[in-house]
Amino acid sequence: QRDLTTRTIGRTIRMLDTVDSTQRVAREWVAAGAEEGSVVLAEGQTAGRGRMERKWHSPQGKGIWMSLILKPTVPIHFLPQLTLLTAVALCRAVKQTIPVECGIKWPNDLLIGGRKTAGILLESSAEDERLRYVIAGIGVSVNLTEEDYPPELREIATSLRIAAGHAVDRTELLQTFFKQFEDLYDLYLQQGFGPIRTLWEASSITIGRKVSVRSASGDITGLALGIDEHGALLLQLDDGNIKPVYSGDVEARA
Ligand code: BTN
Repeated sequence: QRDLTTRTIGRTIRMLDTVDSTQRVAREWVAAGAEEGSVVLAEGQTAGRGRMERKWHSPQGKGIWMSLILKPTVPIHFLPQLTLLTAVALCRAVKQTIPVECGIKWPNDLLIGGRKTAGILLESSAEDERLRYVIAGIGVSVNLTEEDYPPELREIATSLRIAAGHAVDRTELLQTFFKQFEDLYDLYLQQGFGPIRTLWEASSITIGRKVSVRSASGDITGLALGIDEHGALLLQLDDGNIKPVYSGDVEARA
């Protein structure tokens, strides 16, 4: 790692060719004693997983498909904050690498021009209400061309290459992400969620919009005001009441 300037994040990287899912490899590695900051990186995934039981399209050599292992000593209810932190770090890394405007759709989708470019999936294990480990699964569509997307994704997804108009160096983006993540993670462990919350709100495309959130417990529609100190999305309902939403899928309303 020639240019790696981070202390822990990305210090140890396991680089694989094709795997089912880097999340599975990371979980086994944690069980075998992987240290905080260890990363599993694959060229391609045959069974990449997304949030809400969805599949994640991970063609060979075209993206960053990785799982980052974290061991923060915080209570389990801090998990949503780590999700948001990861999205902020990724958004900043993208902006630092190519001159595009990326925005975060709550909680942690990265969009360019309204199309999804990266996704984050956090999986964790806890003991006595404290996190034992977190595996941050990160998928960035870096160098996919239009033809690399199946028809059903063409309208709703894009890649950094399509957005920038040229191929993007995956290694550079990865190193920039590690640095951004480590800086924000240090800040978070020292100062709590406050600074991250401000950064997240500034990069969000959800705040200030009328949205519908679809979740297991039904749909809720309201004006997205911000996020609270736990990372929940604050929705102002038509009756004026403000409701925190902890998980779900956001859809913009007219
Ligand atoms: C989402 O937006 O639904 C989250 C997508 C997360 C995809 C990444 S790719 C690397 C890691 N391994 C997986 O199987 N999924 C995550």
